[in-house]
Amino acid sequence: MLIEIPHVLTPDAVRDARAQLDGTSWVDGRVTAGPQSAQVKDNEQLPEDHPVARALGRLIIESLQRHPLFMSAALPLRVFPPLFNRYGEGRSFGNHVDNAIRYAAGGSPLRTDLSLTLFLAEPNEYDGGELMVEDTYGVHAVKLPAGHAILYPSTSLHHVRPVTRGARVASFFWIQSMIRHDGDRALLFDLDAAIQRLAADTPEHPAVVSLTGVYHNLLRRWAEM
Ligand code: NI
Repeated sequence: MLIEIPHVLTPDAVRDARAQLDGTSWVDGRVTAGPQSAQVKDNEQLPEDHPVARALGRLIIESLQRHPLFMSAALPLRVFPPLFNRYGEGRSFGNHVDNAIRYAAGGSPLRTDLSLTLFLAEPNEYDGGELMVEDTYGVHAVKLPAGHAILYPSTSLHHVRPVTRGARVASFFWIQSMIRHDGDRALLFDLDAAIQRLAADTPEHPAVVSLTGVYHNLLRRWAEM
């Protein structure tokens, strides 16, 4: 399931983030790649412990924790500290699957259930650079306004098409969900959305309470903490 998470950062926050990011020096992106993806990865990254990455990363995580759509779709248990990358002209990232387990500096290992890309460049700043994600329904091209994010299962094959003009700047990171399997998480997400709609239309209907009970009892049955 690919889910667009709009308005993670305000336009002001994006401008501020870009002012900081554009003034830093980037390193070869292969520092966080496994052996297979190192062969196809051609971009630049901020070092994980860079103070700008740390501060912007905290801002992004705080915004997501206040975002009802993200919380409902991801049911996050742990979030990897956000990383930042830049694809200048001619840069790309070939087809790969993200590593199953990630180790943040000083943190416990995280199982990558979900991958998130937060766009920090406007679509008119660059040509190409679409994130291409494969699922059972085909290949999806994703290119969103700055401040918006895409959430997709880390089990998906994906690549970033070559940038042919300008530069694509983004934040990317992984989430370990309380719900390991994408299908189970999608079921809870759909159920939650239906309950929200019902509660908005007919708040007094007794089915709202019953269905909310079903949601929580499924979550209790499936959640791993
Ligand atoms: Ni990837």
